[in-house]
Amino acid sequence: MDQARERAPRVLTDIPGPRARGIVELDDRYLATATKSAPLAVERAEGEKVWDVDGNLFLDFSSGVAVMNIGHCHPSVVKAVQEQAAKVMHFAGTDYYYDVQARLAERLARIAPGRGEKKVFLSNSGAESIEAAMKLARWGSGRRQFMAFMGAFHGRTFGALSLTCSKRVQRARYFPMVPGVTHIPYAYCYRCPYHQEYPSCGLWCAKVLDEVYLDALVPPDEVAALFFEPVQGEGGYIVPPKAFLPEIARICRSHGILLVDDEVQAGMGRTGRMWAAEHFGVEPDITCMSKALGSGMPIAATVFRKELDWGVPGAHSNTFGGNCVACASSLATLDVIEREGVVEQAERKGAVMERRLLEIKDRFEAVGDVRGLGMMRALELVEDRRTKAPAAKLRTAILANMLRKGVIALGCGRSSIRLVPPLTIAEDNLDTGMRLLEESIAEAVRERA
Ligand SMILES: Cc1ncc(COP(=O)(O)O)c(C=O)c1O
Repeated sequence: MDQARERAPRVLTDIPGPRARGIVELDDRYLATATKSAPLAVERAEGEKVWDVDGNLFLDFSSGVAVMNIGHCHPSVVKAVQEQAAKVMHFAGTDYYYDVQARLAERLARIAPGRGEKKVFLSNSGAESIEAAMKLARWGSGRRQFMAFMGAFHGRTFGALSLTCSKRVQRARYFPMVPGVTHIPYAYCYRCPYHQEYPSCGLWCAKVLDEVYLDALVPPDEVAALFFEPVQGEGGYIVPPKAFLPEIARICRSHGILLVDDEVQAGMGRTGRMWAAEHFGVEPDITCMSKALGSGMPIAATVFRKELDWGVPGAHSNTFGGNCVACASSLATLDVIEREGVVEQAERKGAVMERRLLEIKDRFEAVGDVRGLGMMRALELVEDRRTKAPAAKLRTAILANMLRKGVIALGCGRSSIRLVPPLTIAEDNLDTGMRLLEESIAEAVRERA
């Protein structure tokens, strides 16, 4: 049978199966310790379907950690990559000129959030796009300090890691960080850091920036930039109240602090808007993007207001930024997003996911919160709804059940499960995945009891 038409999912072996076991052993032996989420050894993938080396077929609700927004191996992207690879793969875009890089920059400058003319620095990963933003903000403002949010994830290189504040293990034993970063609590209403309720809190979590931090802790005229994720990703898929980011932006503007929008995970249509910041009407000075930008080719972009440009050759550069094949992949990805109405698909299917998650929350006490925007959705598991104690073991059990049933998903935060299928997923497969999620929770809750 044509593999693409096979009904998914279909798991016939243990995971890992016999062939996968060999790969897992080899990987464990030679690769540095990593954050492996499951003993899954992938052979091929198409759209939302993933086949492992033992012939098992899964539905991908992880999208390769929120990368494959238009599905695995989209034919238009594969064609663009193959054609570009046959022409020229690399020619140091920082030092020479070629068409795909210039066209991609023009396109990103046009579609990135915010008005006015923009320019683009291309790199290879989310962390690198953040590093570029940090250097650009210091360079352009002459200020030295940064601000970021608790729960944030901006990457793991030293600059980006200094802004990251999502899990202890990510920072432990790496101190000192880059100096000059102050973190403030994010608007995590389910676990309000101030133990208040929205809206009676009067949005204290935003006001505290001006009334406490910039008043007593960091002189505002020394702060170059504040970094934010419009929806916190690794931190737990946390959506702030509508008014939070506009208030943060207003305060930053009043002090000349640049706003850096990290769209690495939430961007590229994931939330039902091209950029998650659009939900909040916030216009950043600098936007970082990566992950889904290349549909699997490593690429990232830092898009910024034109006036912020370095203007001095050599002030910032790299070797592989703007790689020819990665740029071709990105251009093809942007074409698919436009041509197939992918952002609208995310909004529509995201509403289906929300409805199903609310039903699941009604059914299980262990589901303390469901949240998200578009197709960036999560549920948070708790020991009981009153104490809200995180139920991390239950999450592990649910994720294992899902995998056994053929649905690949990832955790985030302390005890949340994130659901990020390709935005192009077929609706029947979306329904199947949500049904198997519900069955997996039911089984795990029963086993725990
Ligand atoms: C919001 C956000 N920013 C930055 C990064 C870092 O990206 P990378 O792992 O490509 O360096 C990530 C990665 O998950 C992310 O989710």
